[in-house]
Amino acid sequence: MSSSSSSSSVTLKSLTATLGFPFGVAVGGPGDGDNIFAPANAAMQSVVSSQFDLVVAGNIMKMSYLEPTQNGFTFTDADNLVTWAQTNHLLVHGHTLIWHSAYQVPTFMSNAPDGPTLQSMLDNHIQTIVSHFATNFPGEVVSWDVVNEAFNDDGSYRNADPNGSIFYQKLGSAYIENAFKTARAADSNAKLYYNDYNIEWSTTKLNAVLAMVDDFKNRNIPIDGVGFQMHVSLTFPDINTIKNSLAAVAAKGLMVRISELDVAVDQNGSIANETTLDSTTAALQKQRYHDIVKAYLDAVPLAQRGGITVWGLVDGYSWLTGFEGHPEWPLLFNNDLTTKPAFDGVVQALQGL
Ligand code: XIL
Repeated sequence: MSSSSSSSSVTLKSLTATLGFPFGVAVGGPGDGDNIFAPANAAMQSVVSSQFDLVVAGNIMKMSYLEPTQNGFTFTDADNLVTWAQTNHLLVHGHTLIWHSAYQVPTFMSNAPDGPTLQSMLDNHIQTIVSHFATNFPGEVVSWDVVNEAFNDDGSYRNADPNGSIFYQKLGSAYIENAFKTARAADSNAKLYYNDYNIEWSTTKLNAVLAMVDDFKNRNIPIDGVGFQMHVSLTFPDINTIKNSLAAVAAKGLMVRISELDVAVDQNGSIANETTLDSTTAALQKQRYHDIVKAYLDAVPLAQRGGITVWGLVDGYSWLTGFEGHPEWPLLFNNDLTTKPAFDGVVQALQGL
């Protein structure tokens, strides 16, 4: 990678056209600090539409946003986002139809009296949501995270509390295959993904996902790909481990997405008192972004690239600040919407440099 090349006038979307995949970004909606429809954030809209190929809702297409009460679907915010994306020639990836995370499981589902009732609630949730977008915005929502984070890092199914899955507790692993079948029946065109974190380094967890995929294929359960959330740090995991993990999924003939990419510079809080990203760290982050994008291009054949999405536009609104409990600078853009060295690292990797 040349450190002297300047990429400031190049856009990500101008580079992905020949590389066979969309470069996406998670954006906020009503209720989020980075709501792109808030007047104060209006400038974000032009950066997103000029730089990226695809958007993901950071929150507003999750379970409790779209169906807060049983059959009380609330599509207005998501429809506004998808309409905006369509108008601005951006694709949409849907995130996420099923997620155990307590703040996202609607109360009526947590309170379901028994397994069959919960299963019918999930069927209805998925069928209604996927067909809503397929019918109202044909071809626009190109892919879905059907199930998010169903496994523990040790490869077992997420089950017991805390951080357990009410779905597994009541239904066993059957809820996963049922979700894929229902999603496919509702939209035969959208690509269907299983999405998780730490699978870029935990071979135990990745192998559990791959065993599930093999089982699905043997039994004709529809699944198109695997999403690697890829919440990584500057140094961990090492790049060969990341590349090998991506290649292991590609070797199954599946689509591969990097679905929530961010590069934390201060996971352990040792520079928590800093107020800006220093240039040395920014340069390391540039190299790290470069290496991850290059690993994706090297490990995933063109026809199997579902794309790369960064989990947020500007550092100041990254979820990691809340997750880690101190400031973070994990993304490609500064708060004033100027590009960071990390952006140049991505550009250079996309340029084959
Ligand atoms: C995060 C959002 O970015 C935050 O705004 C929200 O408070 C919590 O969820 N893995 C996922 C994403 O699949 O949905 C999470 O998004 C980040 C971790």
